[in-house]
Amino acid sequence: MRLTVNGDINEYYVQTLCLLFFPASKFSKSDASADETPEAIVNVDFDGEKATATVKLSAKGKSVTKVYSEQSNEKYSDYTLKRIACGKAFFAAGKALLGVTPQWGILTGVRPAKLALKGLYSGHTKAEVKSQMTKEYLVSSKKAALVTDIASVEKKIVSKLGKDTCSVYISIPFCPSRCSYCSFVSFTSSKLLSLIDDYMDKLCIDIKQIFDEIKSLGLTVSTVYIGGGTPTTLDAKQLEKLLNVVNSCTDTSLLEEFTLEAGRPDTITAEKLVVIKNGGVTRVSVNPQTLNPAVLEIIGRHHTVDDFFRAYELVKNSGIKHINTDLIAGLPSEGFRSFSETVDKIIDLRPDNITVHTLCIKSAADFANRAGDICNTFSETTKCVDYAQLACKNAGYIPYYIYRQKNTVDNLENVGFALSGAEGRYNIYMMEEVHSIFSVGAGAVSKLVSRSGGKIERIFDYKYPYEYLSDKESEKRQNKFRTIEEFYKQNT
Ligand SMILES: C[S@@+](CC[C@H](N)C(=O)[O-])C[C@H]1O[C@@H](n2cnc3c(N)ncnc32)[C@H](O)[C@@H]1O
Ligand code: SF4
Repeated sequence: MRLTVNGDINEYYVQTLCLLFFPASKFSKSDASADETPEAIVNVDFDGEKATATVKLSAKGKSVTKVYSEQSNEKYSDYTLKRIACGKAFFAAGKALLGVTPQWGILTGVRPAKLALKGLYSGHTKAEVKSQMTKEYLVSSKKAALVTDIASVEKKIVSKLGKDTCSVYISIPFCPSRCSYCSFVSFTSSKLLSLIDDYMDKLCIDIKQIFDEIKSLGLTVSTVYIGGGTPTTLDAKQLEKLLNVVNSCTDTSLLEEFTLEAGRPDTITAEKLVVIKNGGVTRVSVNPQTLNPAVLEIIGRHHTVDDFFRAYELVKNSGIKHINTDLIAGLPSEGFRSFSETVDKIIDLRPDNITVHTLCIKSAADFANRAGDICNTFSETTKCVDYAQLACKNAGYIPYYIYRQKNTVDNLENVGFALSGAEGRYNIYMMEEVHSIFSVGAGAVSKLVSRSGGKIERIFDYKYPYEYLSDKESEKRQNKFRTIEEFYKQNT
């Protein structure tokens, strides 16, 4: 997409507005050569009394220009006024040109519930927060209701969280094979899989060190999350070693939640589940993504529908307290009928959590070059997500956490549903940034959150296992601990 931005407005913000109407676009500067590429020309001005934005959008041989002004007021800074004017002019232009009304309006961040929670914490009622979302951010009333419902569930849970708490994330970035839609940090080549034993040795040292650091900061660990990739790529022995180390660092029976994101049914065995249960894990994922065999084949999941039911049954009989199942709406060649059947079959199983994702098209994913086919639907996937959300609610599931990603089909969200009392706590704490998450392993990102929540700092570990195992890592690790200590010195 060709893009020209004039005036004091962050170009990245304007790009996120473009993505509302032209998903998965790459951006270049406008030039004189008018071709078929969609184009946006954005001008933003502030005259001391009002911010005015003019947005000209062109695509498929048509052009539309919209102007919007936002009057100065006490509530917003001059820059925020410019953002609002720009967002509203862009929204009006996109809607007029393409006949599409993005349901999240001009709310472009990944954490919509954080905004709603802020409103609830400042004493506004759910109705007032909902009205702010629809009026100021042009969010549809359906999505505004969803996000305020989620925020009020989160508020109840977060209000019980102790002051000096934190969570720990442990990264196992390995999978037996790569699913075609996935761009999570995860490694499948035999060369990298052969590093697993060395990786586990180093990871165990890091786990001990991070728990020691947490103790010396006077913090209590609320939740531990072992994620991936696919942690059950590890064999039973490797899993036992990992869980023994966690148990030597903390009394896992006192944790609010201990998750191990198994995920791929083809990696789940009865032997591993005994180790996982004995290791104190209270929540495990078994993910079908879809129960349509043809779609499973297309996305390269390397497991069958029967494998999913077999793995689910094993976990159900293992005595592990909570089961999560992940689904993805908008997978290639999956229509409404097939997806809604998957949703119904999963609800029949009554897992404690059902997480409904919307396909996210990331440039790293294998089929990113098919973005054009997938993104222009603006209907079928919306129907799938609407159906899943309604069916879950009707079956007694509560929406308890939400996040958005760029470049999702129809610009839709990911929502976690839970039976009452079985909400995935780590997901809430991590998404709403209510306390620090100390992460270890390749691809791990630690997030330090000040007590007031006002300050957040991220620390990135090396992405690749071979970098994580290299000599350079010890310097990086020292910096990591220095940053943690400095952050806590300044923010307590
Ligand atoms: C970190 S992945 C790990 C899950 C586990 N390895 C598995 O495959 O079952 C967590 C979840 O993110 C979701 N996911 C991954 N890539 C996605 C994408 N491109 N779009 C939407 N959801 C995606 C899937 O539902 C997946 O189960
Ligand atoms: S979806 Fe899961 S199994 Fe598939 S590549 Fe991504 S992390 Fe690995």
